[in-house]
Amino acid sequence: MGAVATTTVAGVLLARRGLAEPVGSLTQLSTIRLGRRTAGRTPKIGDFVPLASLDDLVFGGWDVFPGDAYARAVEADVLRHEHLDHVRGELELIQPMPGAFYPEYVRRLTGTYVKSGRSKAEMVEQIRDDIRRFVRERECARAVCIWCGSTETFTSPTRAHESVSAFERGLHESDPGIANSQLYAWACVKEGIPFANGAPNLCVDFPAVWELAREREVPIAGKDFKTGQTLMKTVIAPGLKARMLGVRGWFSTNILGNRDGEVLDDPGCFKTKETSKLGVLDVILQRDAYPQLYGDLFHKVRIEYYPPRGDAKEGWDNIDLFGWLGYPMQIKIDFLCRDSILAAPVVLDLALFLDFASRASLRGTQEWLSFYFKSPMTAPGLRPEHDLFIQLMKLKNTLRWLMGEELITHLGHEYYD
Ligand SMILES: NC(=O)c1ccc[n+]([C@@H]2O[C@H](COP(=O)([O-])OP(=O)(O)OC[C@H]3O[C@@H](n4cnc5c(N)ncnc54)[C@H](O)[C@@H]3O)[C@@H](O)[C@H]2O)c1
Repeated sequence: MGAVATTTVAGVLLARRGLAEPVGSLTQLSTIRLGRRTAGRTPKIGDFVPLASLDDLVFGGWDVFPGDAYARAVEADVLRHEHLDHVRGELELIQPMPGAFYPEYVRRLTGTYVKSGRSKAEMVEQIRDDIRRFVRERECARAVCIWCGSTETFTSPTRAHESVSAFERGLHESDPGIANSQLYAWACVKEGIPFANGAPNLCVDFPAVWELAREREVPIAGKDFKTGQTLMKTVIAPGLKARMLGVRGWFSTNILGNRDGEVLDDPGCFKTKETSKLGVLDVILQRDAYPQLYGDLFHKVRIEYYPPRGDAKEGWDNIDLFGWLGYPMQIKIDFLCRDSILAAPVVLDLALFLDFASRASLRGTQEWLSFYFKSPMTAPGLRPEHDLFIQLMKLKNTLRWLMGEELITHLGHEYYD
């Protein structure tokens, strides 16, 4: 029921009533080319792929603070009253279920609306009960879960994360390596519910849950929504590399004042985010392959909590690059963005695509959804793909492949035969 979740829900309710446009959503707006360029076939993705309609969606969620989705949206202060008031009644009906919360993973929050259980295994069972009750009471045909909860403190996988049996044992022993978000992920996958992780913490990214997702035939995806600054990075950096321009330094700083910013003010939670944000350039620029261009790259990322800005973040980048014969140049990007406005269409698309993936019998990690993530999950041992345009090609080709259409290589040779 935080800023991203309530902005997503309110936006869907408004869009389906025709009161606002779902800008930023591929499932609602984007077209896809099919066949040769001369064929003139470019349907909307939503008409090409059998996605659930916005009219069919119902929403629920958990939080560690009480308050319905309307109250929490007002508190988040992202959407204006002229929008929220139209859907107030529907938002007020969305009451959170109490969260599974061990405070040591999010030190800046003191959750007051929480479950109690003797072990983490019991917490998982309570979440599973919540899901079943919700699905039954709201008469849902299917469900999808997207983690829009707070970023958790930095942790690495432990022995408990190595296999399904080790994780189950860890749950019974309330292993400290198992964080809150993992309880939800485990519960969902056990219930056969596709799950995506919008935060940078492990959540659904460790061997035991990959194994469980394959066993249960559940699609999963993550991690960390790609929205403001990293979205820009994955547009600019591939461009610089494509033209073989060098980069000596890339300094990124953010100021934001929402609750996410407050949580990220904690060094442990910031480290989780920093790790996710730093990985992008190394992979795109391939330092090892191009030591003369990127070998000395200094990459620094800062996030500063600055309450006056609320959700209206400022992402500032200074790029020190160099060209022909090593002559230096600079690029400055000052992105006055809005965190939740950029994240909401990502949440919607992930929900619809994961539901579709599940019906198409795709299981385990869905790398074709890398487009939406800062740290895309891949098959074990693979380097993630960060270039936004390769990610988009992968996404659209996956849709063509699933629908039995020819893949598009952009070769273009056929037009000259
Ligand atoms: N907005 C963006 O552009 C963006 C981009 C990438 C990632 N993210 C991530 O998305 C997540 C949500 O962002 P936000 O701006 O909505 O943050 P937020 O602080 O407004 O919302 C997070 C919510 O999660 C709740 N929560 C924390 N622990 C919980 C638990 N164990 N169970 C249930 N609820 C719990 C908090 O009480 C809060 O209401 C964050 O992890 C953030 O880092 C956001």
